[in-house]
Amino acid sequence: EIIDAKDKIISPSFCDIHVHFRDPGQTYKEDIRTGSMAAVAGGYTTVVCMPNTFPAIDEVSIVRYVIEKGEEVGLCRVLPAAAITKGRKGKELTEMALLKDAGAVYFTDDGAPVMDSFIMRKAMEYAGSIGSFVADHCEDLNLSNNGVAHEGEIAAALGLPPLPPEAEDTMVARNCVLSIQTGMPVHICHISSRLSVEIVAWAKALGAKVTAEVTPHHLSLTDDEWLDFDCKAKVSPPLREHKDVEAVRWGLEAGIIDFVATDHAPHAHHEKMLEHQNCPPGMIGLQFALPTVLNLVKKDYFDLEKAIRVLSTEPMKKIGLKPPAIKVGETAELVIFDPFESWEVNEETILSKSKNTPLLGKKIEGKVKYTFYNGKIVYSDSSGVSCG
Ligand code: DOR
Ligand code: ZN
Ligand code: ZN
Ligand code: ZN
Repeated sequence: EIIDAKDKIISPSFCDIHVHFRDPGQTYKEDIRTGSMAAVAGGYTTVVCMPNTFPAIDEVSIVRYVIEKGEEVGLCRVLPAAAITKGRKGKELTEMALLKDAGAVYFTDDGAPVMDSFIMRKAMEYAGSIGSFVADHCEDLNLSNNGVAHEGEIAAALGLPPLPPEAEDTMVARNCVLSIQTGMPVHICHISSRLSVEIVAWAKALGAKVTAEVTPHHLSLTDDEWLDFDCKAKVSPPLREHKDVEAVRWGLEAGIIDFVATDHAPHAHHEKMLEHQNCPPGMIGLQFALPTVLNLVKKDYFDLEKAIRVLSTEPMKKIGLKPPAIKVGETAELVIFDPFESWEVNEETILSKSKNTPLLGKKIEGKVKYTFYNGKIVYSDSSGVSCG
């Protein structure tokens, strides 16, 4: 095959340390095979799966299941994050050392934040002591009080129960304080509010081992999406206001936010059709991260080299992996993309089992042409996904 890379960008392929592949337990939403397909179509060759599966990834056998199924599919590197607490119930720590030896790359109870500060401090110390880290979905559930949409004019206009940003901010601050106090690392999942960015900046200035990720949707969308998309706009943390979008963009540019992670959260169509109170939060993201980050390059927030760092080398470094180097004599693990080619987001172009995104039906710029993993083409835009 002749590869035409004229006017294309060749880059180390991407790494997403926050995806929900729903496997085991909810494979009607997504599974490791379809999740891997969406990953390579988005230019990713490394993904880290969240443990809110059924059963949860809180035992060695489930860690092994995810790794082995990922290898069987063979499209990309599929790694598990294990739960911080047994059953993600926030009470009793998992056996992190065993889980790490089995291949878990970090620890999180994502979706069910660790509310208890005593448990969180113990978790930070334990994970840090074995050379790993905890990541937290920062949300004080008492403050969020079953809210549905960001507290603001949109929630008020639509009569949606409000989710105040301080539900996130207080827990970001709590985690920063515990990290400073213990000297151990903490990673902030999907940061979304202006004050949270300011708190992380403050903690970093104090020398805390705090890192943060941001999603493509929090970098590009506001709660205005509720007007057109109803529950397709529901995500946790919620889409916020222009000032928050500006803050996360600025935070990423300034290095306060370390990298991009998608929080790819597939749900079935019928679930997203439920009433706003009952429909599950989450949107898919693996195929939209590159277009979103390229848009920020085009808007002059940062350059292409920085874009590639936040999609690839920085997240790889965070989970202790050597970023794919593109060198003569090394096995190819790279992506070739066209930064200006546009494509329509639709049922055919989305390779995830789920189509839950407010981008459905829209045209976006930035197209993956080829993804190489393990020296082979695993995705090309002309012939799709090809296994081994
Ligand atoms: O929007 C979200 N969806 N946020 C979470 O924390 C969980 C995730 C999911 O599992 O669907
Ligand atoms: Zn989360
Ligand atoms: Zn607005
Ligand atoms: Zn998540």
